[in-house]
Amino acid sequence: MRISSGFNADVMPGYAGTRRLDELRAAEYAHLDEHTYLDYTGSGVAAAAQIRAHAERLAGHCYGNPHSENPTSSASTALVERARRAVLAFFNASPEEYAVVFTQNATGACRLVGEAYPFGRGRRLVLTGDNHNSVNGIREFARARGAEVAHVPVRGPGLRVREAELAAALGGRGGLLAFPAQSNFSGVQHPLDWVGLAHAHGYDVLLDAAAFAPSNRLDLSRVRADFVPVSWYKVFGYPTGVGSLVARREALARLRRPWFAGGTIQAVSALGGWHVLAPDETAFEDGTLNFLSIPDVEFGVHWIEDVGIDLVHRRVACLTSLLLRRLAVLRHADGSPLVRVYGPPDGDRRGGTVAFNVLDRRGAVVDERIVARDTAAAGISVRTGCFCNPGAGEGAFEIPERALRRTANLRTPALDDYLGVLGLPSGGAVRASLGLVSNVADVERLAGFLDAAYADREPDRSGLRPRERC
Ligand SMILES: Cc1ncc(COP(=O)(O)O)c(C=O)c1O
Repeated sequence: MRISSGFNADVMPGYAGTRRLDELRAAEYAHLDEHTYLDYTGSGVAAAAQIRAHAERLAGHCYGNPHSENPTSSASTALVERARRAVLAFFNASPEEYAVVFTQNATGACRLVGEAYPFGRGRRLVLTGDNHNSVNGIREFARARGAEVAHVPVRGPGLRVREAELAAALGGRGGLLAFPAQSNFSGVQHPLDWVGLAHAHGYDVLLDAAAFAPSNRLDLSRVRADFVPVSWYKVFGYPTGVGSLVARREALARLRRPWFAGGTIQAVSALGGWHVLAPDETAFEDGTLNFLSIPDVEFGVHWIEDVGIDLVHRRVACLTSLLLRRLAVLRHADGSPLVRVYGPPDGDRRGGTVAFNVLDRRGAVVDERIVARDTAAAGISVRTGCFCNPGAGEGAFEIPERALRRTANLRTPALDDYLGVLGLPSGGAVRASLGLVSNVADVERLAGFLDAAYADREPDRSGLRPRERC
């Protein structure tokens, strides 16, 4: 097939209006030109300005541990508090209603909720099928405390959740609903009004915004989710090691922390055996905060606000539609498709995360390890495997629930054995994801590579290493 190297503004209405991002990429993200980066759902990318700001701040001032009263400590505290305010403003969350807990990442935010949520008999944890494992893991806290765990599967080729099935699962005496605003597997964006639906059924809501926040506006004054985990490196690339749990204060106050630690308490006695947790978000921040990096979150948030999250959204939407169209027309000479996309086939209610597999001439899936090896050799960064999202993969490969239940007793260490039992040809898929400064060339490069590497070719299956883990 012929792949055009340019783009046609008619084909991508709105793209021309995002040209400012090309200038930004040239000025601030020069390191991206070394290869083709298509793993924004894995991590965002950092601007040179962010690194400069970090270096200048640390070289210019002395910052001490914020748990003290001295001047260097107070300087750190002031910057941490500024970062909290910036995060709230980013999500249009009022400081009266919402608090920001700094964590290591989105996973740390999920754990804080899971380990402290008042699960118990008669209460329920409801999970959509396409949650990330960092959300799925909350079920272990729920089970340990006798709560019921309900899964609402993703259905059909679009990998969406049926609202009627979700509403039916929101029964009992209430509990916690957890779902991703955007699936990190399929890019599906679930309706944010499920938050109100769940509230009406007496449920709190954990809205996982890790894959959504980097290229979509989340307005917490309208979508009043109770717990919102986010990882900042996914939004603006740097720093790693800082995430947030943005939480409604009222919901936060209902959590019961299983322990206390330095930084979390108002008063404690070692010999008396009692403690009183701090009355605010600091009750959830164990030990010394990452006080040298948290100020970079303030810088990053302002950076994205200056660029404009709606501009980023528009560009990602244009490029996602382009990528889907390019993948859909890739063919072998006999007209058979070269690629099978999992999830929505067009730009409707989805983000810039596209999961697919390459198909050979017989229509069989090309092992994703081959694609991982070949794309890596070509300097293209995509994600391969199951992306920590087993439920979406189970939906994509249409594995019957009965077969999955049978595997619960399997005690084999290797993922390959598990796939063998399920009769699956492959361990997962390939994921290309778009973000802040993606461009047409990135999309064309991937489509062109897939065409050149696999159309009417026998993939080289030699030398693949066993899959050891998901
Ligand atoms: C939707 C979603 N939730 C949670 C996470 C976990 O993020 P982290 O590994 O930064 O804790 C990810 C990471 O890919 C994600 O995409």
